[in-house]
Amino acid sequence: KAQYTARIKELLREKNAVLVAHYYTDPEIQALAEATGGCVADSLEMARFGAKHEAETLIVAGVKFMGETAKILTPNKRVLMPTLEATCSLDLGCPIEEFSKFCDEHPDRTVVVYANTSAAVKARADWVVTSSIALEVVDHLDANGEKILWGPDKHLGAYIQKQTGADMIMWQGACIVHDEFKTKALEDLKNVYPEAAVLVHPESPQSVVDMADAVGSTSQLIKASQEMPNDTFIVATDRGIFYKMQQLSPNKHFIEAPTAGNGATCRSCAHCPWMAMNGLVAIAEALEHGGAEHEIHVDPELAKRALMPLDRMLSFKG
Ligand code: 13P
Ligand code: SF4
Repeated sequence: KAQYTARIKELLREKNAVLVAHYYTDPEIQALAEATGGCVADSLEMARFGAKHEAETLIVAGVKFMGETAKILTPNKRVLMPTLEATCSLDLGCPIEEFSKFCDEHPDRTVVVYANTSAAVKARADWVVTSSIALEVVDHLDANGEKILWGPDKHLGAYIQKQTGADMIMWQGACIVHDEFKTKALEDLKNVYPEAAVLVHPESPQSVVDMADAVGSTSQLIKASQEMPNDTFIVATDRGIFYKMQQLSPNKHFIEAPTAGNGATCRSCAHCPWMAMNGLVAIAEALEHGGAEHEIHVDPELAKRALMPLDRMLSFKG
């Protein structure tokens, strides 16, 4: 590992590149991004960081929609990923042809899509949002009397609808990782740690969200873990987040929310299989050789259309 880390540091300098990593990637990748002037962030902050950084090349450790977003925002930069196979169940479950048909059937609705989608789905939308800003954007649209077509995450959509009371119809997608959190097992765990605060990402089922002391994007959950006075936290999101939570609050105790319905905690179950594809070897390989297996390309025509709803999100002031 040390050998790869050293090589990646060298390559980042040589290629005028910066490493942008998501909180769900493995701890050594997050540590490397921090040590090399890159960033570890949620999907909104990743987009902002990449867009304003002066490096010629961005290497994005995360899943494909994050690399595509970076490319759409900075078409003149080279955007590399450890692997282009790292996708997302929300993206996979929302093919453009069907989604576009759904939109065509509801021409009176403002189309708001989650960032976890293809460039083509973004290009069909009026707004793109991430989980850290979705609530404010929908609230704002609702206040303007707009009716919403939401996609693709049904749980995040249901959460936003409940919070804002907006008129929303939804695509029925889900995240295969968050969809696995179980209410009954969480109640049992809460009985074992009655003093623990429950932190939940809103891609989780409504019944799990209902048990939360704090709901939010990855960065919002990390902030909650710092600011809440509790010593113990039960966390319902990908286990990659524990690296940053533990780093910021070394004396606090973080427990994974259960993904097994039998009352037993399933250690290390909640980990996105696509985030797990981001390894040090693949990062070194991408920086060294680039090429079709690593470089993100987005059709320029599509990118131009997808930029508009993405820009709306980035310039949204609330
Ligand atoms: P965040 O925007 O909260 O980082 O979420 C991205 C994601 O893919 C969650 O599963
Ligand atoms: Fe997609 Fe879920 Fe993985 Fe996030 S954790 S990238 S939503 S599959």
